[in-house]
Amino acid sequence: MPDNANESINASQVDDVRNVIIFDTTLRDGEQSPGASMNLHEKLQVAQALVELGVDVIEAGFPIASPGDFEAVREIAQIVKGSQVCGLARCVNADVDRAWEALKEAENPRIHVFLATSAIHREFKLRMSQDEIVRRAVEGVKRAKGYCSNVEFSPEDACRTEIDFLCRVVEAAIDAGATTVNIPDTVGYTTPREMTKRIETLLNRVPNIDRAVISIHCHNDLGMAVANSLAAVAAGAGQIECAINGLGERAGNCSLEEVVMAMRTRRDIFRVDTRIVSQKLVPTSRLVSKVTGLKVPRNKAIVGQNAFAHESGVHQDGVLKERATYEIMSAESVGFVKNELVLGKHSGRAALADRLKSLKYDLTPEQIADVFVEFKKLADLKKDVYDADICALVDRMTSEKKGDAPEADWKFVSYELSCGTNASPNFKATLSQNGIEKVGTSTEGDGPVHAMFWAVQQIVGLPVSLKEFKIEAVTVGSDAQGEVVVFVNDEDSGVAYKGAATSTDVLEATIKAIIDAVNRIQRARASAK
Ligand code: KIV
Ligand code: ZN
Repeated sequence: MPDNANESINASQVDDVRNVIIFDTTLRDGEQSPGASMNLHEKLQVAQALVELGVDVIEAGFPIASPGDFEAVREIAQIVKGSQVCGLARCVNADVDRAWEALKEAENPRIHVFLATSAIHREFKLRMSQDEIVRRAVEGVKRAKGYCSNVEFSPEDACRTEIDFLCRVVEAAIDAGATTVNIPDTVGYTTPREMTKRIETLLNRVPNIDRAVISIHCHNDLGMAVANSLAAVAAGAGQIECAINGLGERAGNCSLEEVVMAMRTRRDIFRVDTRIVSQKLVPTSRLVSKVTGLKVPRNKAIVGQNAFAHESGVHQDGVLKERATYEIMSAESVGFVKNELVLGKHSGRAALADRLKSLKYDLTPEQIADVFVEFKKLADLKKDVYDADICALVDRMTSEKKGDAPEADWKFVSYELSCGTNASPNFKATLSQNGIEKVGTSTEGDGPVHAMFWAVQQIVGLPVSLKEFKIEAVTVGSDAQGEVVVFVNDEDSGVAYKGAATSTDVLEATIKAIIDAVNRIQRARASAK
């Protein structure tokens, strides 16, 4: 074997590494991804998963942005133990006060204040001079410092800010008490080489820089967010802001799973590591994908379904002889479950319990018993029950059982449909609410989905429209379960709500997904009253 053939294995043996702080912004910048909004229950689930993943700082939201954001930050601050909880605020008194109100019960709170510094933002967005920016930044940091010792300051659009002015703002923010100074590449414009230079310049020219941690926050508009974050770390940055599945504004943020595994796998180069429990990466990615409805591409690095699949004969032969020929890390190290056996209708409770455990579901014996009942029903409908089927089953059961489902939620009862090439669809749906059944019929629309939507709308009587409809097989084979994700618009607020459902009957999954979205709209309307 050549000397460097096992570099990935040698990398794990490198000592003398420093720790880089992982600041996760899935719940704040990530939630700003178009279509990625999460409800309170989902945000709490994600926050808990981030704690278990070993994230150091969870940016839980932007409390002044909406009552929903405030409530989410407040509840996350109350439940999270072991990770810092951070809330975002502009350098405006009302923002900082609101952020603190939401964060004050956290075990370890952080206030993150930001103000744009680049010429283009100063001139067109803020209409402020450089002196005014410095004054406001200092005021914002001081206001936050009055509440909390742990304060982060972000000069928004830092990577397009004149370097002399950036050094001046950073120095002033640290003097005012900022303990972390974040350097956002807000528009994803910078390159790794420029990033290295910018961080080195800050380290060399800002006299008080040793009193703060330099952080990095890269957007992915040119596909360089991970590369730029790694360049910043190599130049001396001590914190990376990133999001699960690379979620974030526009093209997203630096992907947490990619940047973490790059640092771990190439520890020999970067000489840094993190507290991340890498085996939790895939389950966390799956959870975030489920609650946002944003699918992870199959070929996505680290967490995509194909990330460890070897297709060509040459590669398969190589991997069978020596894994390191074509794998630089193992699938298990990022949380994929290796299993030889597919479950089916003859599988027993112990086999299911074992599989649930290896899929990282921490269920009580009673919950396992409930899953077993549903598993048996599914195994009657489809011959092979794959891991993805089991995950879909448990996810469906946990979301149906969640405590915040009010009585007023609509429930699916049954449907009837006839349609054909030259015939209009004829659809009848029966739903129930508060135990009372209602029937809706439709012969309208250019196909069954359209007709279904009309029938549901007739029953629930809300001004809604179907914005997006996606269907995908959960596994392989013609008996596979179909997973339907829809986005339904609340015409009054203009907000789109996600709905999702799985079933071996894709039409049933479709109507259930529409009902799921309608229930979310109904709950949002009720809580806004
Ligand atoms: O991209 C950005 O500049 C931000 C800041 C608020 C940190 O998200
Ligand atoms: Zn951002």
